[in-house]
Amino acid sequence: MSSSDSAVDVSTLCESESNFGGCEKGYDLTLTDKVIAATGPNAHPRLAEIMPSLVRHLHDFAREVNLTVDEWTVAIDLINACGRMSDDKRNETQLLCDILGLETLVDEITAKQVADASATGATTPSAILGPFYRHDAPLLPNGSSIVKALDPSVPWYETAVADSALVTGRVLSSASPTEPIRNAIIDVWHSAPNGLYEQQDPDQPDMNLRGRFKTDDEGRFSFYCLRPAAYPIPDDGPAGQFLAMLDRHPYRPGHIHFVVSGPEHRTLTTQIFDDRDEYIQKDSVFAVKDELIVSFVPREGDPNAKWLLEYDFVLDSIA
Ligand SMILES: [Fe+2]
Repeated sequence: MSSSDSAVDVSTLCESESNFGGCEKGYDLTLTDKVIAATGPNAHPRLAEIMPSLVRHLHDFAREVNLTVDEWTVAIDLINACGRMSDDKRNETQLLCDILGLETLVDEITAKQVADASATGATTPSAILGPFYRHDAPLLPNGSSIVKALDPSVPWYETAVADSALVTGRVLSSASPTEPIRNAIIDVWHSAPNGLYEQQDPDQPDMNLRGRFKTDDEGRFSFYCLRPAAYPIPDDGPAGQFLAMLDRHPYRPGHIHFVVSGPEHRTLTTQIFDDRDEYIQKDSVFAVKDELIVSFVPREGDPNAKWLLEYDFVLDSIA
């Protein structure tokens, strides 16, 4: 369809309630249709499907708030700054999406599509991956620790000892919740008590507080880690500046990240949240789900852990 084919009578558009008063404000509503019609016949099918909606929402937004050139320029500068700051250790653009709730929203949409397509039972809810995942964390034996080189010279040593924890559980199949998944991989990572992931902190060893574990024949896994502490998302960049402009705090409640994968099951990306945390109901990236809030319990007689968490993951069967 050419742009001329798509020419729309403004008086007709003005009858619509979706232009947020654009007609009353005297804006040229045909612009939106011209932009949509400019997409060619060989456009990627999914792009051709979604771009009309994006353009309409974008244009309606600009008309609704009477967006000025100066304001648009500030937004462009923000996005450009996010791009310039992003590299293999920091994803500022993803962080910007996170503080806008966009990653949580697309995670919810994706999870719903998976649930609707699934013929089996309930699965563990997903949560956002976040910007600090690293591939190729070390594959460790069950029962080992992801806490590296912890000794009294570490500034947060005492906190780490007080929060030492054993996390254990099973990976199960939604097809049969009593059926374990053997040889599933639990990829786990969390921040240190100083609120920093190892790639943010030159004082931490490479791959500290990261590890992968394989389930045994009963679908069981276990590892030592720390009860997670609240931390501020990196607020020394444009996403942080944006938070400040919005008079928002940057903190996330303490959480442990997981990517759990198993043969013939859909890979689960999720987080668990420590119920002791003061930010549990005010996560700066809106990722907390009630089903993912957990309670650590005191552990007796284990020199390596003062706390215990037993938690099972249920993966969606795609067999
Ligand atoms: Fe995190």
